[in-house]
Amino acid sequence: MDTLHIKGGKPLTGTIPISGAKNAALPLMTAALLTDGEMHFENVPQLTDVRTLIRLLTELGCEAEVGNGSEETFGKSLRLKAETITSTTAPYELVSQMRASFWVLGPLLGRFGEARVSLPGGCAIGARPVDIYIKGLQAMGADIEIVDGYVHATTKGGLKGANFRSSLVSVGATHTLMMAATLADGETVLENAAREPEVGDLAKCLNAMGAKIEGAGTETIRIEGVSKLQGTRHPVLADRIEAGTFAIVAAMMGGPIKLTGLVPETIEAALSALRAAGADIEVGEDWVTVKREGERLRPVNVVTEVYPGFPTDLQAQFMSLMTLADGPSEIVERIFENRFMHVQELARFGADISLHGDMALVHGVERLTAAPVMASDLRASAALIIAALAAEGETIVNRVYHLDRGFERIEEKLSACGAEIWREKA
Ligand code: UD1
Repeated sequence: MDTLHIKGGKPLTGTIPISGAKNAALPLMTAALLTDGEMHFENVPQLTDVRTLIRLLTELGCEAEVGNGSEETFGKSLRLKAETITSTTAPYELVSQMRASFWVLGPLLGRFGEARVSLPGGCAIGARPVDIYIKGLQAMGADIEIVDGYVHATTKGGLKGANFRSSLVSVGATHTLMMAATLADGETVLENAAREPEVGDLAKCLNAMGAKIEGAGTETIRIEGVSKLQGTRHPVLADRIEAGTFAIVAAMMGGPIKLTGLVPETIEAALSALRAAGADIEVGEDWVTVKREGERLRPVNVVTEVYPGFPTDLQAQFMSLMTLADGPSEIVERIFENRFMHVQELARFGADISLHGDMALVHGVERLTAAPVMASDLRASAALIIAALAAEGETIVNRVYHLDRGFERIEEKLSACGAEIWREKA
């Protein structure tokens, strides 16, 4: 298994181009199943999760071709064409590797009236059930059975528009139900929908395919079903979690680091927490510069919330930052029940953190020291890198495959700013 090596304490300055968002690319790619037309995506990040989904789509019969993309965007282009689908079964081997594979349920059922998709199973950060997906599709007239660990969904005569109020805000269920509803008969109203920018990006693409969606980005989404969708070209939205992660790196190390090619308003919650911690932030139309001078970081409490609140996907990274703050801070995790595995690993750097239910109490220390550590999940791996950049000595991060699921060329981007970080192949 590859390891990452980081010699901490180097000043970091420079410019980091932000990649396309994993969390936008994945639902967009599943939307290709809704049409027999050709989909062209640009700014697609080169990540393991994207490759896993390409494998699943090809297994279902979809054609896929990865291109080179443009130099400024870094990312690749991706052509998908689901003209002839040979299977409507998404097998356990692929869905268990990545939860977002489950989202093929909506488009398959919407277009073909049938889907057999493996239950994703639990994952390291919590139980993550799929009850909302199932209730939403049932409201639209689907018959759903769970057999041998698979969700088997069928419709008699297609899905019907429905009013559905979700009991909690789920990003994946919103994507899935919105996609399914595009081809349903009549109007669907999704209430208590997720407002994450990636939902807006998916709706924008679906509308370019001929769907009739209004209100994406608000709590109520209205979808008027149409009989057919066509192919389109769509650039993937910039990754706000990657941007937020590098903004935290800049606040930790002092910067200045300029992040380019992003939508600054999508990381406002993170930026305001960083300002409170003492960072100076300049915001342009599609760029943000973060720096911090002089004194120690100030402690800041954060609570993770659905968008536009502070994102759970930045919780671990922000906790890493707070380990060096000048005082205690409280970090409350409200989205997932078990997303604190990084706490034990941060302790290996000398961080002082105690857990109290859904709250982590971080007592800032004056310095961190390098240690061998283990990445436990995708975002937690980024937290370890942030701590390692600030720590004295050489850190070795094990299990970096978690990182490759969601951060494109992180060591290259950090090296370009002066970090001493390299990968050793196993
Ligand atoms: C997506 C993101 C992930 C992010 C999360 C929350 C992608 C690929 N992943 O994950 O990075 O951390 O949003 O912002 O975009 N829940 C239920 N029943 C359901 C569905 C969800 O109880 O049927 C619960 C989950 O267990 C969790 C909460 O709802 O506690 C939010 O999960 P959800 O928004 O669905 O997360 P994902 O879409 O899986």
